[in-house]
Amino acid sequence: MKLILAPMEGVVDYKMRQLLTDIGGYDRCVTEFIRVSAQPVPKKVFLRLCPELEHGGRTRAGVPVYVQLLGGCPDLMAKSAVIGVSSGALGIDLNFGCPAKTVNRRDGGSALLQYPRRIESIVDAVRQCVDPAIPVCAKIRLGFDSADLLPEIVERIAAAGANELCIHARTRLDGYKPPAHWQHISGIRRPEKMELIVNGEIWSAPDAREAQHQSDCKSLMLGRGALARPDLARIIRSHLKAGDGRDWQAFSWPEVAVRVERFFNQQDSGNHRYVGNRTKQWLGYLRKNYVGANQLFQQIKKLKDRDEIATMIKRHRSQLEMISNTSFNYTRDQTKPFDEFSSQTSSRLSRTKIGVPTAA
Ligand SMILES: Cc1cc2nc3c(=O)[nH]c(=O)nc-3n(C[C@H](O)[C@H](O)[C@H](O)COP(=O)(O)O)c2cc1C
Repeated sequence: MKLILAPMEGVVDYKMRQLLTDIGGYDRCVTEFIRVSAQPVPKKVFLRLCPELEHGGRTRAGVPVYVQLLGGCPDLMAKSAVIGVSSGALGIDLNFGCPAKTVNRRDGGSALLQYPRRIESIVDAVRQCVDPAIPVCAKIRLGFDSADLLPEIVERIAAAGANELCIHARTRLDGYKPPAHWQHISGIRRPEKMELIVNGEIWSAPDAREAQHQSDCKSLMLGRGALARPDLARIIRSHLKAGDGRDWQAFSWPEVAVRVERFFNQQDSGNHRYVGNRTKQWLGYLRKNYVGANQLFQQIKKLKDRDEIATMIKRHRSQLEMISNTSFNYTRDQTKPFDEFSSQTSSRLSRTKIGVPTAA
């Protein structure tokens, strides 16, 4: 079983990848999508969106990061993939699932699910140009407005030589509306060489088990669930007795809060207009599972001043420590927290507004 951290534009940037892979349980991450439009993507763009490329293409915890491309022109996609690989990418992921209207209008993402031959020619062009040792993966939805074309899409992606295919078990029309239709994947003819990965609505270990069962796929990609429960991959491994199979006691809120504070201190220092937005966005996911996250969210949601937010988070954490008489730290991370390898911040701060769940 592989557990992959889903690409999430405007949310899962390299800081979040670092934070979540430090906690552990993941076999791989994928960058936010990199749009390929009029020109091949230059190296500097790859390095900005995937600073891990300067560190062997892996997160600090050693988890490989594949670079995701989105576009409709086979030639430009292939040229961009070659630049990505020469910049250090350990794998290329092709996005055929993005539902955003602006992306679809410009010929990319899930719009291409209506044209399986076009998807095939993009995967084929990339596969032909990229070193055979580098995996080429694709990420799709069940279809554009129905799953009717799914068997053909899967067959064509396999024929083009993709190594893996991740299926987000909803159509574009479904958006992010639950449920995910994992069962649609199980009937599809399995190409031998291409592994299928199921994605969508996996928020807990029972969801993971059910997704595996209904889709007949072993490997899973975790999206919003990974943000709502930062140790979800460890919990799933522990419950399914997969990987190292070690028992894992789920994080308490104070253990998460220490990471929220650190995330704020690292991440939210960029453009003052957006100060705190990333942390508020993450708390928006966390409060689905932790009452304390909701309290902290309410305390900071209207604040705009960096120092005020920092003070409020600190106060919240001190109260937690006082109540439990314990000092919480990062002892359950796989890596030490202070050996930063980059001070860059993503330029995509606060651009994403979709998909943030409301309080449960
Ligand atoms: C805010 C947000 C940003 C996303 N950005 C990307 C992206 O850049 N590339 C991609 O392939 N999918 C993207 N997705 C889709 C996710 O990777 C995933 O397929 C989807 O959220 C379903 O999984 P989940 O139900 O576990 O969240 C995004 C989803 C969300 C909510």
